[in-house]
Amino acid sequence: MCELELSSEEQAMLAGDFGPGIRQAMEIVFALGQIYGARRLVSVGSVQVAGVSYRNLGEAGLEFLHEWAAQGASVRVPTTLNPAGMDLQAWRELGFSESFARSQLAVIDAFRRQGVRTTCTCTPYLVGNVPGVGEHVAWAESSAVSYANSVLGARTNREGGPSALAAAITGRTAAYGLHLDENRRATLQVVVCCPMRELSDFGALGYLVGKVARNRVPYFVFRSGDLEEMCSHAALKALGAAMAASGAVALYHVAGVTPEADRLDVLVPDHETLVVDDLQPAYAALNSDVRQIDLVWFGCPHASLEEMAELVRLLNGRQVRSALWITTAREVREQAEAEGLVAAVETSGGRVVADMCTVVAPMRELGFRTLATTSAKGATYVPSHTGLQVRYGTVEQCVEAAVTGIW
Ligand code: F3S
Repeated sequence: MCELELSSEEQAMLAGDFGPGIRQAMEIVFALGQIYGARRLVSVGSVQVAGVSYRNLGEAGLEFLHEWAAQGASVRVPTTLNPAGMDLQAWRELGFSESFARSQLAVIDAFRRQGVRTTCTCTPYLVGNVPGVGEHVAWAESSAVSYANSVLGARTNREGGPSALAAAITGRTAAYGLHLDENRRATLQVVVCCPMRELSDFGALGYLVGKVARNRVPYFVFRSGDLEEMCSHAALKALGAAMAASGAVALYHVAGVTPEADRLDVLVPDHETLVVDDLQPAYAALNSDVRQIDLVWFGCPHASLEEMAELVRLLNGRQVRSALWITTAREVREQAEAEGLVAAVETSGGRVVADMCTVVAPMRELGFRTLATTSAKGATYVPSHTGLQVRYGTVEQCVEAAVTGIW
């Protein structure tokens, strides 16, 4: 095992000179560094913490957070928080139980006591946590990690809940994996020959490539279409989220688009090549045959203002028959409210739901059995995590499903 060298401040943290909470955090960072053969720790510019839903944490997780907070450990770098299992304000109207809400709010409170910004979103980059190119960060949540590495050009491994919180408390992470130049090179070239017309096409592509890439770094070359028009932030967000879900891909490059793609040595010489000319296998794999739709879910990853405006345009004032939820960050919801988008969605009978992710919410207890989504990540996880049957398709298909209640 190679030596992991600590600065004098890091050694003092590990020795408990800054208190038991910081010592516990440094023990986690140090242990990970040793396991992964890191030579040093690096300072992080920001942290995104996951493991927020009470549905996943349970009493043991809540107790662990409370104990850590009670030791007086608080974050020393800007730290944002992943989605919870409910809208922290509108939970009652949405049908969440008092007991779930009480426990979920206790989790949020524990994070707040540690100085975490309780943003409750998987798109922290839409609410001010925007690391620069080359900046070391410690983010959890697979789609956010992918976006930070690939689209923003920051450097992070896929942190878990405790390791991200430990990085926030120490301001450090171990320099291994995607923090190092050599691990950011692509070993799989993906040549995309089919047209990419819909947002869901990017999710479908990500689903297929993730299955092949499995933890590797893919390098995309699109053979047709206007790159700038095609590779919108929403498209890249969908692509990365889908690959993260189907193949734990944490970094990808797109020729001519992402910040590190044009580095001369980005693609290793002995790379494998995958040609994608048909997305139908992904659509087939992500769809059940359910017809009746209880809930149409947009906002996985959490919706931006632009995505919401597009939905309002497509709804065009029509009433929905199924439930319609657009999940987003609370701060984005507030902006949407100011721009009249929330009122427009509500006029159609839909809801702009803040703070939460459907995948970690008790959806069956709310009475839902079927769901339609434009998100390949959502379609991958919803059946196994919530027990709901899923339809996956284009934004237009999902809007029509909301209006008719039928797929
Ligand atoms: Fe975000 Fe949940 Fe989707 S965390 S990416 S809304 S599965």
